[in-house]
Amino acid sequence: MSNATVFILNGPNLNLLGQRQPEIYGFLTLKDIEAACQDICDQNGLDMVFAQSNHEGELVDLIHRARLEADCIIMNPAAYTHTSVAIRDALATFDKPIYEVHLSNVHQREAFRHHSYVSGVATGVIAGFGAFGYSAALLAFLARE
Ligand code: DQA
Repeated sequence: MSNATVFILNGPNLNLLGQRQPEIYGFLTLKDIEAACQDICDQNGLDMVFAQSNHEGELVDLIHRARLEADCIIMNPAAYTHTSVAIRDALATFDKPIYEVHLSNVHQREAFRHHSYVSGVATGVIAGFGAFGYSAALLAFLARE
C-alpha cells in the first residue's frame, strides 16, 4: 500500500515567519516548521508536500492539485482565512480531512480575525499553539478513526 500524502499549505506573508511580528508569530521560520513536519512524516510513513504562496489563485490551484494527490490538507490560509470565498469553495471540493491551523490565537486578536471562511469546511481548527499547531494537525490526522 502506498503512503498517505499530506499537503501542508501556507498563505500570504508566512514566508516571513521568524522576522514578521515575532512577538505574535514566534521566531521559528517556515523552513523550521517544514523540517519539523518532515520529521513527523518520515517517522510515520507519510508523504508531504509543503508549499507557501502569497497569491490566492495559486493557493486555489494547490488545493485542486491536492484533490488528485492528497489524503489530507493542513492549511494556514493566513489573511485569506478572513477574506477568501475562493479558498473556502476550493476546500469544500476536497472530501478528506482538512485541518485549519493558525499560529496565533485569532480569537484573542482584532475582531476581523474572529471570522474564518475556512472553519465551516474544516474538519478541525487549531489556533494559538504557535508552530506546534502544524505538528498537532499531523498527529490528529495520524490519530483519526
Ligand atoms: C494567522 C492569523 C491571521 O489572522 C493572519 O492574517 C496571518 C497568520 C496565524 O497563523 O496566526 O497571517 O493565520
